[in-house]
Amino acid sequence: MNLTGRKIVITGASGFIGSHVADRLAVDNELVLIDDFSIGPRENLAQHEDAPNVRIEEADITDHGQMRELIGGAEVVIHMAISCLRTSLNSPLLSHDINAGGTLSVLMAAHEAGVERFSYVSSSEIYGTAQTVPMSETHPLAPTTVYGASKLAGELYAFAYWRTYGLPVSVIRPFNTYGPREPYAGARAEVIPRFALQLDAGRSPVVYGDGSQTRDFTYVSDTADGIVAATACDELVGDVVNIAHGREASINRIAELLGTLMNRQEIAITYTDPRPGDVDRHFADTEKAKRLFGFEALTGLDTGLAKTVDWLREAHIADRIDEDAAGSPNW
Ligand SMILES: NC(=O)c1ccc[n+]([C@@H]2O[C@H](COP(=O)([O-])OP(=O)(O)OC[C@H]3O[C@@H](n4cnc5c(N)ncnc54)[C@H](O)[C@@H]3O)[C@@H](O)[C@H]2O)c1
Repeated sequence: MNLTGRKIVITGASGFIGSHVADRLAVDNELVLIDDFSIGPRENLAQHEDAPNVRIEEADITDHGQMRELIGGAEVVIHMAISCLRTSLNSPLLSHDINAGGTLSVLMAAHEAGVERFSYVSSSEIYGTAQTVPMSETHPLAPTTVYGASKLAGELYAFAYWRTYGLPVSVIRPFNTYGPREPYAGARAEVIPRFALQLDAGRSPVVYGDGSQTRDFTYVSDTADGIVAATACDELVGDVVNIAHGREASINRIAELLGTLMNRQEIAITYTDPRPGDVDRHFADTEKAKRLFGFEALTGLDTGLAKTVDWLREAHIADRIDEDAAGSPNW
């Protein structure tokens, strides 16, 4: 389908990835951007506040009445609102309610609205740790965390709506994404901005476990492009696709690269207890996205990390580095 001149609803739109997806689709479409602003700050959508083709709505995805009202009349839904992995370690019920229950609530509303496309943005966490690499879409589904399990429940609900009601569902599985607007403060700080701020403050990057665990780190503009391209792809309806760079890097390697980039090579890594449920290895097979809709992530790790550090330094945070760099073992 052509994503031009459409009425598109995005949930989790003020979040890290959602706000980048909104930026792309706002150019040619009418958008309803839904978030409860519990995590994603409204400032992530400041560029759309006065746009005549964009409505920003504070709403809770678990409230089906609100979803029915906001999704009514939409042609496309891109569902990205979540409660994150770290939160699931301390608040598993919240994770279930938002990620599984909230997805069902949004699916119900999308079905009632008769939308033409429903993109469920899932996660590589539904695979658990790699049993074979690279991990294709047929890799076993064995999530380690409640977050991963709740994201998988969302996939299963989405496919149930496809099979039972013919809701045109596409499932998109991004791998770890990094870049501007990624949470960097407090308990939600993700690994790359956390290391960068620790190094910037002259402190050791704090690694959970031995740092040999790998991720397929993908720059956010690539992930957002992949989500948009996957949503437009008719062949993907009723099916699932990975969105990733297709290359693994260990957490130790990330710390080293950032140390070099930030001219802090002399600072040693500090190791602490592993994070519960942390997967050992993620490395995506990206062939399907390339074959179905010609998607390839083009931003190399060096370039992506440099852009991320620039953003961290310039954007918001000069005064808050000490607090942020403390590193939080309190996941
Ligand atoms: N960030 C990654 O590395 C990554 C990797 C794989 C998959 N994903 C997936 O991408 C999507 C977006 O992730 P993100 O990193 O941008 O997350 P995020 O936490 O930055 O964004 C999620 C947004 O959902 C909002 N939200 C939470 N509960 C809500 C509720 N009840 N009602 C309405 N809004 C609510 C939050 O305020 C937040 O703005 C998610 O589906 C996630 O599973 C992310």
